[in-house]
Amino acid sequence: MESGLAMSDGTEYELDRLLERIRERRAVVGVIGLGYVGLPLATEFARAGFHVIGFDVDTARVAALNAGICHIPDVDGGLLRTLVETGAFEATDDFDRLAGVDTVSICVPTPLRKTKDPDISFVVDAAEAVARHLHRGQLVVLESTTFPGTTDELVQPLLERRGMRVGSDIFLAFSPERIDPGNTRYTLRNTPKVIGGVTEECTRLAEALYGSVVEQVVKVSSPRVAELVKLLENTFRAVNIGMANELALIANVLGVDVWEVIQAAATKPFGFVPFYPGPGLGGHCIPVDPHYLAWKLRSLNYRARFVELASEVNGEMPGFVVEQVTQALNEQRKCLNGARVLVLGAAYKRDVSDVRESPALEILEMLLARHAEVSYVDSYVPRLQLEHETLQATPLTDESLRAADCVVIVTDHTNVDYERVVRLASLVVDTRNATGHLADADHVWRLVRPARKTAQMERIVTT
Ligand SMILES: NC(=O)c1ccc[n+]([C@@H]2O[C@H](COP(=O)([O-])OP(=O)(O)OC[C@H]3O[C@@H](n4cnc5c(N)ncnc54)[C@H](O)[C@@H]3O)[C@@H](O)[C@H]2O)c1
Repeated sequence: MESGLAMSDGTEYELDRLLERIRERRAVVGVIGLGYVGLPLATEFARAGFHVIGFDVDTARVAALNAGICHIPDVDGGLLRTLVETGAFEATDDFDRLAGVDTVSICVPTPLRKTKDPDISFVVDAAEAVARHLHRGQLVVLESTTFPGTTDELVQPLLERRGMRVGSDIFLAFSPERIDPGNTRYTLRNTPKVIGGVTEECTRLAEALYGSVVEQVVKVSSPRVAELVKLLENTFRAVNIGMANELALIANVLGVDVWEVIQAAATKPFGFVPFYPGPGLGGHCIPVDPHYLAWKLRSLNYRARFVELASEVNGEMPGFVVEQVTQALNEQRKCLNGARVLVLGAAYKRDVSDVRESPALEILEMLLARHAEVSYVDSYVPRLQLEHETLQATPLTDESLRAADCVVIVTDHTNVDYERVVRLASLVVDTRNATGHLADADHVWRLVRPARKTAQMERIVTT
């Protein structure tokens, strides 16, 4: 028996057949959801020699991809065109074609509802589409970040509705995506991939499939473990960033430079990992994923206290930034109402165009609500949709820097000359320490009030 696992003849047949098709690159690979996660995965499979069909409900995106036009910065446009021209990759919105794939990886969004409860509807829609076209010997892998139990409590019953059984007729696993948009050092290929199948056979097949595109596969004992691994990774970041943000609030009270404290602590060669404060959490993962964990635990009568506290502190940061802008202006005898505020950066992090959950959105909304005259600069984000209005990015010029009453650095894109910003602006609130390499100056607030200013104020109060 090639597989070496104890199982029925039917299972052995389906397993060996698919293993062979994967090894020989004859398996047709399906990827559902062609966004930041799905498209890089689909192109890696195609590069590895599989015929890949990408499925998406966004017909404009499908048409663009089939024309070789790429919307994800991490995917090389030239590579995509070649893969389309050679027929290695095609995109479609025709979900009947799921019947023709041997494997399917589900990479659809898992956002939050307004109530901060998980919106699992995209996963359900995708799993139902797979279930409608399911055939024996198919491998289904869920990649979307989600709460523990999604794969075996929600997806598995959907797939088994018509009588096929996971582990014998079909195979199911969870494998969290760890992609870090904009990171050129760690890509899909050299980032280890965690895999947890419902049965050993499921894990084995998923390992064979992903082993063809990643250097290291890490097998775990169940989909639940794999689901919790992903939530641990992202909750770890949310909690530690929350602590760094609280340190910034503490440093502000104490009149200490928070960046200096963290940099000095980071010289400890063991037992300390530096995390940095900022304007608040952003992106599709860190602000969202811990809520998936907290929600699941609430349903089991358990409160995930670290998650809740981190979310509270991180959620207060945009308001803190606006408060700092108000105070900094006040010290120059200006008020926020009517002040010209130039926001540098709208994306949620450096050198990307993604604005999902970006703290810049909340900061801009709050500044507008307080009647500041707001404009923003971001070469990656030409237009920004706020709740009630659309803003257009303005170019960064000497005139705009000189004219601003306050420049707020929200995202530290590397294509901005921060020395020029500090030289020309009359007031800078730098939420990212983008100006940290420059000499201290009274008109530059690095998230917290300049330490010398606090000392001056204390002297005034005590004399
Ligand atoms: N972006 C990241 O950095 C990142 C990293 C790790 C994990 N994740 C997780 O991966 C998942 C996908 O995230 P993303 O950033 O790629 O999202 P995305 O919004 O960039 O892409 C999702 C795609 O799925 C499509 N889609 C939605 N519903 C669909 C359906 N029913 N059938 C087919 N296509 C559908 C959308 O049109 C879109 O093209 C999420 O669970 C996310 O939490 C994201």
